[in-house]
Amino acid sequence: MSQFQIAVIVGSLRKDSFNRKLADAIVKLAPPEFTFKQVHIGDLPLYNQDDDEKQAESVKRLKNEIGGAQGLLFVTPEYNRSIPGVLKNAIDHASRPPGQNAWTGKPAGVLGASPGVIGTAMAQQHLRNILTFLGVPTLGQPEAFIHVTDGLFDEDGNIGSDSRQFLQNWMDQYVAWVKKHAG
Ligand SMILES: Cc1cc2nc3c(=O)[nH]c(=O)nc-3n(C[C@H](O)[C@H](O)[C@H](O)COP(=O)(O)O)c2cc1C
Repeated sequence: MSQFQIAVIVGSLRKDSFNRKLADAIVKLAPPEFTFKQVHIGDLPLYNQDDDEKQAESVKRLKNEIGGAQGLLFVTPEYNRSIPGVLKNAIDHASRPPGQNAWTGKPAGVLGASPGVIGTAMAQQHLRNILTFLGVPTLGQPEAFIHVTDGLFDEDGNIGSDSRQFLQNWMDQYVAWVKKHAG
């Protein structure tokens, strides 16, 4: 049985991030042949094109982790109707230098959670735009715009019962997508 290593990119650096909790919880709905590792993006320098030929160690680490993965899972908040700057910074870093885009061809899924009612819909749409440009085949359906309410997580940090079926179906579709598109 093939094994699939998934790089998880969380677009929030906040200690009590709902999106990190969502990332931690949803991976428990995956089958055993899938393993997930969150990549750190909080220690990356601000992207500067002058550094393309001498990327920082943290950038090289990010690119190695993306390069070694068979799939990507983005879980992001929405900031001012787009993706957080820290996430865009990480995406830009790993897309460079020209010809060495670490993201290309890695099948991806996109999720996001917000206390706001549109549940990161606009941020996810912006992220999809970026991923399309980078050559990342991204799961289209089902979309998952998660509205953070009491009960989204149970006391053990698992997905709560009201959202369990929806997110299990999302994960099942994601798993099938990665299996279909992983090189
Ligand atoms: C700079 C900033 C901009 C925000 N803009 C939006 C927004 O456009 N839409 C939204 O639903 N929530 C917005 N929020 C609220 C976030 O959804 C909320 O802070 C959420 O908890 C962030 O995700 P996290 O818990 O994973 O850190 C914004 C928060 C910040 C700090």
